Amino acid sequence: MYVAPSILSADFGKLGEEVKAICDAGCDLVHVDVMDGHFVPNLTMGPVVVEAVSSASSKPLDVHLMVENNNFFVDLFAPLKPKFITFHIEEEKHPHRLIQKIRSLGISPGIVLNPHTRPESIEYLLNDIDLVLLMSVNPGFGGQKFIPSVIEKVKVLKDLMDKKNAKFMIEVDGGVNGLNVRELDEAGVDIVVAGSYVFGSNDYESSIASLKV
Ligand code: DX5
Ligand code: ZN
Repeated sequence: MYVAPSILSADFGKLGEEVKAICDAGCDLVHVDVMDGHFVPNLTMGPVVVEAVSSASSKPLDVHLMVENNNFFVDLFAPLKPKFITFHIEEEKHPHRLIQKIRSLGISPGIVLNPHTRPESIEYLLNDIDLVLLMSVNPGFGGQKFIPSVIEKVKVLKDLMDKKNAKFMIEVDGGVNGLNVRELDEAGVDIVVAGSYVFGSNDYESSIASLKV
């Protein structure tokens, strides 16, 4: 299991130190939650802050856009060369075009599904993306309770992957902890995002290690 701590739960008063600490503690990616105050009722960080995160990080960035104008935000964050940029299918009229754009910028494109969104809704995009991020909470805030129906969605998505002969990673975001990570692993999840579980612990190394099942 790859582990991507969400810096949304970090202490922003010492963000650089926090990013260095999770990288030294063995995380695989640094998950960056970008919220615009429109698509979700919260506002987080722009490229100035994410540039500071990027220079403190020895691990690739995983940028999760929760915004209304994806195209604009892809242009803002692409110069920071994250490994992944993922966007919500619920908020994109031209996902195929946006996927091509992200890839043309040298970044791996991914799609995010809210808890209610059916995996079948992205069936015809599965051969064009590198990652599907399944939300296991409603996007907007850290520290929420895990929605268990995501497990069934992982299985549906894996069946679709086989049917389409597609190859992408599956990531789950929200309410992940050392207890539910096993079930996610058994269902076939490749990457877990964990915010409050990692940053709420007093030992980042052992909380990250407990997610690496
Ligand atoms: C929610 C974000 C998540 C969140 C996860 O909108 O996408 O990445 O920070 O936090 P926890 O792990 O605390 O649910
Ligand atoms: Zn996220």
